[in-house]
Amino acid sequence: MASVATPKKAEAFFTGNCVFAAGAPTPESLPAEHFPEIAFIGRSNVGKSSLVNAITGKNMLARVSNTPGRTQQLNFFRLGDRMMLVDMPGYGYAKASKDAIYDWNLLIDAYLKDRGTLKRLCLLIDARHGIKENDREFMHKLHVYAVPFVTIITKTDKIKKTELAAVKAAVENEIKKIGPAWPTAFLTSSEKGIGIDEVRLFLAQYVE
Ligand code: GTP
Ligand code: MG
Repeated sequence: MASVATPKKAEAFFTGNCVFAAGAPTPESLPAEHFPEIAFIGRSNVGKSSLVNAITGKNMLARVSNTPGRTQQLNFFRLGDRMMLVDMPGYGYAKASKDAIYDWNLLIDAYLKDRGTLKRLCLLIDARHGIKENDREFMHKLHVYAVPFVTIITKTDKIKKTELAAVKAAVENEIKKIGPAWPTAFLTSSEKGIGIDEVRLFLAQYVE
């Protein structure tokens, strides 16, 4: 199949045909593995759904909300019959019940530990907050399950340019100690469209 590994081809591919393919609220409902998958995770409200929309250039694709804990299942979006983007429910939502946290762990573990088609997980970190304790706990999970991940710093429009370099350095310093992490963190703003081209180009290597 034709490669999409140039900026123009990557943009055309990621902003091309994309449809909601499946929603999985439980481990049993995970769809069969067909296409290479890229999944998006991070703290509740970090901007996962917004980033999926920015990458695909479709504002209404994944549901975005001011209310944390909006995405409650794994949402699978099929891109051009060649790739699947997976918008995951976030962690760290302060008002989540114990039962909800238990169910979240079951679902996330089921997906992460045995998904042959998962090519790379995008771990989103809010530029204003940096890496928090629950991010560390989650990274430990990724280490245990040997899930390859890349860190994407979100909402960079919300902090000063001078602070960004320090946040990026601190994040990279921490992730480089974790086995399956990509060493460089991407700087993005879904709102302003910053860094989206770079993320597309990076993810294009997994298109089959
Ligand atoms: P959950 O599904 O609830 O875990 O949230 P999420 O991580 O999917 O976040 P979502 O994309 O719903 O965005 C949460 C809020 O952050 C929304 O109000 C977005 O408009 C806002 N937001 C997301 N990305 C950006 C960004 O790059 N810049 C700014 N300023 N706001 C953003
Ligand atoms: Mg969401």
